[in-house]
Amino acid sequence: MAPERKDVLVVGGGGREHALVWKLAQSPRVGKIYCAPGNAGIGELAECVPLAADDVKGLTRFALERKIGLTVVGPELPLTLGIVDEFELNGLKIFGPTSAAAQLEASKAFAKELLRQNNVPTAYFGVFTDPDEASTYVREVGAPIVVKADGLAAGKGVVICKREAEAIEAIDEIMRARCFGDAGRRVVVEEFLEGEELSFMAVTDGSCVVPLATSQDHKRAFDADQGPNTGGMGAYSPAAIASPELTARIMDEIMLPVAQGLKKKKIKYKGVLYAGLMICEGRPKVLEFNVRFGDPECQAILPRLRSDLFDLLEATVEERLAGCALQWDSGASVCVILASEGYPGDYARGRVISGLEDLAEWKGGVVFHAGTKKDGDRVLTNGGRVLGVTGIGRSFREAIEEAYRAVGLVKFKGMHFRTDIGQRAISASAERE
Ligand code: AMP
Ligand code: GLY
Repeated sequence: MAPERKDVLVVGGGGREHALVWKLAQSPRVGKIYCAPGNAGIGELAECVPLAADDVKGLTRFALERKIGLTVVGPELPLTLGIVDEFELNGLKIFGPTSAAAQLEASKAFAKELLRQNNVPTAYFGVFTDPDEASTYVREVGAPIVVKADGLAAGKGVVICKREAEAIEAIDEIMRARCFGDAGRRVVVEEFLEGEELSFMAVTDGSCVVPLATSQDHKRAFDADQGPNTGGMGAYSPAAIASPELTARIMDEIMLPVAQGLKKKKIKYKGVLYAGLMICEGRPKVLEFNVRFGDPECQAILPRLRSDLFDLLEATVEERLAGCALQWDSGASVCVILASEGYPGDYARGRVISGLEDLAEWKGGVVFHAGTKKDGDRVLTNGGRVLGVTGIGRSFREAIEEAYRAVGLVKFKGMHFRTDIGQRAISASAERE
């Protein structure tokens, strides 16, 4: 007998949500897919709903009316606003942590305290509500040092300071001038860690923690890690650095203690646990936690997932993850982001994207839309990160070649991308050989 299909709502409209919709659409258990608000690419697979991702009441009403069987939340904002609490109150199934659990991302002070209480390795730190005390701490500890706004600051609330004076200026900007608004009521001041970054994502149902494939993203805007930090200019999977030993260590020293620590606090955490890690001489230390899939890490790992994504997300929500084992393709994937000129600063929208028809013939990977919108027959740019092109191959060399072959087919005015996505993975494997 064919399984009963459930209608699904995906919340968000970026590349990560396109990847989620794309993978869910392959499941025999999924019926109609809705996405709010979606984008031009998502519109090919799902019905886009004109509701903002943070319109919690509107989304709840929609899910009740359409009898949505499972809602999957992409970005952090609706999670911190309590979309999961609201859906659960209304008896609706939804994948993601409650607002209490989402504090892990929404408050860096909360996250750091939790890490300290559970002996999870992380940079040493202080939490301050008084700018003078924060500055005194900086003078005591010295530079280099990192100043972080406590709350959500669209990925911009972290200032790496090479000199003490920069740190004191950052404290003034964040706490006195409130350049990130209320997110700067408190700051975390922490040790500067050197090493290699790794994104480690797992899903948890509050008890079991199931690791996903490893990935690494490229945060800086320009080649050779130059320029400002962005949400991510590309990603690849698997992460060369994540040996089985390191993965086991991350699970034992970080992921399981964090899941246990939340449970001890009577916070039921269901959803993605995403640890941003610095690997310092082989030892993992936590930089931050996110409560959602990484973007663009999601666009790199989902094309490698063989298992049914709907089954995984539903098992998480229904607290049935015990014994769950995921199957992954053994090859490599590389996602290259095509961004608007000026990103992560100001950028123009509404530029015509050409070449998407040629890409439809491409067999070497998947194209995920981020900031795009339909305008009659045309597709226009509508955001900082516009497209994510994921190449797939047996090796990183193949995946990179595929991704950039496809990138060569697309054009829009002011299109900007890095030309070295995934190269780090090749140099890392060459070093090991
Ligand atoms: P976060 O949002 O906390 O992950 O910080 C954004 C980026 O800042 C990270 O991906 C790192 O590149 C960098 N970063 C954050 N904390 C530290 C730290 N303690 N030492 C060095 N770099 C850091
Ligand atoms: N790529 C980093 C993030 O999703 O936060």
